[in-house]
Amino acid sequence: MTKILITGSSGYIGNALWVYLKKNYIIRGLDKYNSRYLKSEKIDLLNLKKLDHYIKSYQPDIVIHLAAQSLVDETINKKKYYLNNVVATKNLIFCLKKNKIFNLIFSSTAAVYKYKNTPIKENDNLKPVSAYAKTKYECEKLIKKSNLNYIILRFFNVCSSFKIKNKIAGELHKPETHIIPTVVYKSILNKKIYIYGNTYKTKDGSCVRDYIHIQDICSAIKKCLKKMKNSNKIREIINIGSQSKITNLEILHLVKKITKSSLNYEIVKNRKGDIAYLICSISKAKKILNWKPSNSKIKKIIKDEIMWVKYLIKNNIKRTFKNYL
Ligand SMILES: NC(=O)c1ccc[n+]([C@@H]2O[C@H](COP(=O)([O-])OP(=O)(O)OC[C@H]3O[C@@H](n4cnc5c(N)ncnc54)[C@H](O)[C@@H]3O)[C@@H](O)[C@H]2O)c1
Repeated sequence: MTKILITGSSGYIGNALWVYLKKNYIIRGLDKYNSRYLKSEKIDLLNLKKLDHYIKSYQPDIVIHLAAQSLVDETINKKKYYLNNVVATKNLIFCLKKNKIFNLIFSSTAAVYKYKNTPIKENDNLKPVSAYAKTKYECEKLIKKSNLNYIILRFFNVCSSFKIKNKIAGELHKPETHIIPTVVYKSILNKKIYIYGNTYKTKDGSCVRDYIHIQDICSAIKKCLKKMKNSNKIREIINIGSQSKITNLEILHLVKKITKSSLNYEIVKNRKGDIAYLICSISKAKKILNWKPSNSKIKKIIKDEIMWVKYLIKNNIKRTFKNYL
């Protein structure tokens, strides 16, 4: 069986991926924090010596590098971003090359692209604006000049949860800043929801985004593993989204309908840096990976998020929010 190493395995996507892949792969995960669910090795990518030792002893065939500082609210702390994204990636590349491990899958972001109000393709113009996006772009450049085999995945808005057998995987960022987990959680608990802006040039004035179900993210990564295993040389950048166009207000009204809750919300001023549209073209993913999303209809996304919120409530696990959301 192929040996996989997941960095950032205590995080949302890392944990879900582990649950998703564990039947078919030998997997280990590392993270600077312990995992609530799986046994991640507690290693900070900034600790070069420990990282090198671990990689040398495990000798993975493929590394999936998800570890990052990614919460939007913390973009002000530029140093934290530089260290946990750029320096961490530099360290990982160094250790991989030193130990003759040549296959890397990297999670980048749609935030590296220049604004466009139609589906974005991989060769469209780039213009990373936030500290987060800038550091992710730096990581991409490091990987591209590393001589490793790589697949850089630019994820759009990852969301929702899934259950395999008795294992459930879902999103629990602290604080939570993403709209779907926020709206679903607050609707169920009848707390006030704040929507940033209704004056964008979109069909209802609120922002339009492309939501991709976590299970589809996992299936895309699984396709990458297969592709990498069967190619001597692969160097690709691929968007992963659903090519859907959902507005914030549509999410709000759909959640109200599904949860049968009364809507307790307020429109507040636009959030700095937010853009009207961010939509993914998935034609390259279809062509190169033979992948397409099959769980990312917005109703399914919301229903599966409700399942996760019920799990959180049942286990007395609280979501925390910052600022308005
Ligand atoms: N969730 C999304 O919507 C989304 C969208 C686009 C891109 N991405 C990217 O996907 C990846 C995973 O996202 P996520 O939502 O699971 O993030 P997350 O914040 O839930 O998980 C990231 C994990 O990385 C770990 N980490 C950070 N710095 C580390 C270090 N120096 N050493 C070891 N571990 C470290 C954190 O402890 C955390 O557990 C990230 O790279 C993110 O930028 C996510």
